[in-house]
Amino acid sequence: MGPGSADLDWETWSSPTFDFWTFDRELDGWVEAGRVPVLAAPGHEAPDFLLEVLTRAQRCICRRNAASSTPAFERVLKLLRARHDLSRPLVRADYDHALDCWQWVLRLEPQAGAAPQLAALLHDVERLDSESLVRIEQAAPDYPRYKRAHARAGAEIAFRLLEAAGIEERLAREAAFLVHESETPGFSPGVQLVNDADALSFFSLNSAGFLDYFGEGHTRKKLNFTLARMSPRARAELPRLRLRPELRALLGPDGD
Ligand SMILES: [Fe+2]
Ligand SMILES: [Fe+2]
Repeated sequence: MGPGSADLDWETWSSPTFDFWTFDRELDGWVEAGRVPVLAAPGHEAPDFLLEVLTRAQRCICRRNAASSTPAFERVLKLLRARHDLSRPLVRADYDHALDCWQWVLRLEPQAGAAPQLAALLHDVERLDSESLVRIEQAAPDYPRYKRAHARAGAEIAFRLLEAAGIEERLAREAAFLVHESETPGFSPGVQLVNDADALSFFSLNSAGFLDYFGEGHTRKKLNFTLARMSPRARAELPRLRLRPELRALLGPDGD
């Protein structure tokens, strides 16, 4: 396919300087217009290319299972959307990450219950209070402690939002508990699922922007923290993700 006839070609996508933020906004435009973008790639590159682009776009697909096809779940999605002022870049990034993390839960566990799906959507809702205009996490003297406090504060907010959406109390408590543990690996399969989905969303959706915003020093800290939260199953996804070359290099053997 010649230049100009595709919305995205493999060469542009694979460029070390590919602009993910601009692509994400183009994607939003295609979704708003109800248009399916045209992709172009040499035949032998097409399967990986498609998988990488679909992974980046999965927040727009919003796949669901039976547990997330209920009116109450729909109300949670609406309330979450209403809390995000998408004209603010950091808030936009958080909203996209919430949807993307939810989608990773369903990719890792297609039969996942409502609790881990709700927790994935709400696990970073606390940032709307603490980091909507500027990020502060790089200044934390004890990063794991900072992340645990963020998760605990988020659990309270998540519970109140779930109550407001009419989610039954037992389920709301279960989801809030998963938010509470969302920065702590391995406690239970549900906790690990949310940790894995969050970590994979960081790599697949947020890592390029994170590197630009925070620089290499804090990104290295974040990578180490994130890798330590991931199960072997989640780490096995890393080689299939489209990462910036600098990030792939920072990952080292863990990313291969
Ligand atoms: Fe978080
Ligand atoms: Fe997160």
